[in-house]
Amino acid sequence: MLELRGLSKHFGGVRAVDGLDVTVERGQIFGLIGPNGSGKSTTVNLVCGVFPVTAGSVSFEGAEITNSPPHVALGNGIARTFQNIRLFSELTVWQNLWVAQNGQESVRSQGFFSRWLSGNRGQRASVEEQLEFSGLADKRDEPAGSLAFGEQRRLELARALAARPKLLLLDEPAAGMNLEEVKQLDERLRWLNEQQGITILLVEHVMELVMGVTHRIAALNFGRKIAEGSPAEIQQNQAVQEAYLGRSEEEGDEGGGSS
Ligand SMILES: Nc1ncnc2c1ncn2[C@@H]1O[C@H](COP(=O)(O)OP(=O)(O)O)[C@@H](O)[C@H]1O
Ligand SMILES: [Mg+2]
Repeated sequence: MLELRGLSKHFGGVRAVDGLDVTVERGQIFGLIGPNGSGKSTTVNLVCGVFPVTAGSVSFEGAEITNSPPHVALGNGIARTFQNIRLFSELTVWQNLWVAQNGQESVRSQGFFSRWLSGNRGQRASVEEQLEFSGLADKRDEPAGSLAFGEQRRLELARALAARPKLLLLDEPAAGMNLEEVKQLDERLRWLNEQQGITILLVEHVMELVMGVTHRIAALNFGRKIAEGSPAEIQQNQAVQEAYLGRSEEEGDEGGGSS
């Protein structure tokens, strides 16, 4: 479904992503792990067309989308969440979901309310559905900025889902969550994958989550793939263990640079 071939992104002398080959099959939850700075977020950004690639290609459902602007990825059915939450904090929960579906102009323009009134029933239903499944229905009219951290993470996921993606890219969705929240996220991801048929590329540091829900994992270090296999294989892989041990002092800082 998603094929990365020789994908590279260099920032000056930094080889953030360096000749990466990854294939995500339809129906998979595919994990992308690696120490901070190993190129995970950059990979997500390249898939979404946030910035141009240095080399290599991105294909989705057989069509090459390398260097296409972000709306092309979205239009093709690829949605994402960000490592650092990006919501419109002054807009309400409901408006954030509506914007995800209808674009920023739909809220910024004077005609927001009339557009909402005339908006088609299917679009509104999709927003209502996301509100319900994310457990945020009773907070629908609150500004996103006033939500608790865990709720903001849920809203971010709901926002990505409002676009009804075929492929969902999640950049450290469990960062900063407590155990109970991680468990809920685990269940939600399984449900999205198994019941909704959504393919997921999961970038994650929380090993309980990534080892539990993924079908296959690729591990990065310094922008290169150092291992790929089942969660059990990755857990036992020597190169992966060394990559994490070697950089363990730098871990614990969730920022990890730009997302
Ligand atoms: N926009 C950017 N400009 C310059 N360097 C960047 C940029 N984004 C990421 N980097 C660098 O690329 C490397 C990989 O970063 P990133 O993809 O964020 O890693 P990860 O998500 O695995 O922690 C890091 O060295 C980071 O500092
Ligand atoms: Mg990152």
